[in-house]
Amino acid sequence: MRGSSLLTLLMLMPAPVVHADDRAALVRLVRQDCGSCHGMTLKGGLGTPLTPQALREKPVESMAATILYGRAGTPMPAWKSMLSEADAEWIAGRLQEGFPEESR
Ligand code: HEC
Repeated sequence: MRGSSLLTLLMLMPAPVVHADDRAALVRLVRQDCGSCHGMTLKGGLGTPLTPQALREKPVESMAATILYGRAGTPMPAWKSMLSEADAEWIAGRLQEGFPEESR
């Protein structure tokens, strides 16, 4: 019994999957909205650089938290009304690898 309720619980957990369409929308959002502060090439502007070199040492979870909740006392806004936790983690992970270009 215990085993099957654990399985039920696992099945109820939202899968952290970002679909292809969402992905294109996220790439656009990051290039345009985040780019307005972090620079269109994400090399920095008002916001800090979001390049793999700058972010290599940072844990994805803490970057995702910065994206979702913003950073108090700085212009970095909270995006939790627009992005899910999975979105923020996906963005943070891609920033660390070198963010993809917009496909359209
Ligand atoms: C209004 C300007 C602004 C916008 C828009 C903005 N940011 Fe920021 N962001 C900042 C600033 C300023 C900082 C630096 C905060 C500090 O001094 O600690 C920052 C910091 C960050 C950091 C932490 C970097 C580090 O080195 O720890 C991440 C990650 C980040 N932003 C991602 C994003 C993403 C992703 C978006 C779009 C969803 C975004 N930002 C949109 C201004 C902005």
